Amino acid sequence: MISLVLSLRVILHRRARSEMVLWVFGYGSLIWKAGFRYDERRVGFIRGFRRVFYQGSTDHRGTPEFPGRTVTLESLPGAICWGVAYKVSDEEDQKIALEHLEVREKQYDMKVYVDFYTDADSPTPAINGVMLYIGSADKTTNQNYLGPAALDEMASQIAQAEGPSGPNRDYLFHLDDALKQIGCEDSHVRDLANAVRKIISTKAAA
Ligand code: SIN
Repeated sequence: MISLVLSLRVILHRRARSEMVLWVFGYGSLIWKAGFRYDERRVGFIRGFRRVFYQGSTDHRGTPEFPGRTVTLESLPGAICWGVAYKVSDEEDQKIALEHLEVREKQYDMKVYVDFYTDADSPTPAINGVMLYIGSADKTTNQNYLGPAALDEMASQIAQAEGPSGPNRDYLFHLDDALKQIGCEDSHVRDLANAVRKIISTKAAA
């Protein structure tokens, strides 16, 4: 009898584990390149954050000598940030996805779980607890944080920086395109992309 109860517990525990789904929210490069296997991709938004090019990148889109800029999230009551949520159901796929993300997002010091929405008119989340990475403004845990700067200054840095994953400007242009594709208007990204395009065309004309 005891062994029957125990094996039932093991079965239930296994079933609970296999039914645990991982949802990953992407608001930067994860929008256009997941880099892991997933079952479903949903467009939507999270509440209380805005996307900002305040995170320094010395491993992907810049170098320690000349850091690039990538996006992070800044807490802002009332704001929403559009992106995509990826559903990863299979246990092995979840393990591989997490291993991939822990390396790729290693310069982001926070991993948080928030609610994800698809309907701006409804207060009910479509998904509870999507996982995302944030580069916080705390320099003790996030040494690469750069923070805000004048638009021209950020644009000039992005126009010049390049790292192992490619030019910083490509990251910005990919993000600008990817946001347009999901129907999101983000003036911070659009203004920065236009400022970098202006720098590039001025240089080409000189
Ligand atoms: C993200 O895409 O969600 C995180 C930031 C990045 O890797 O660009």
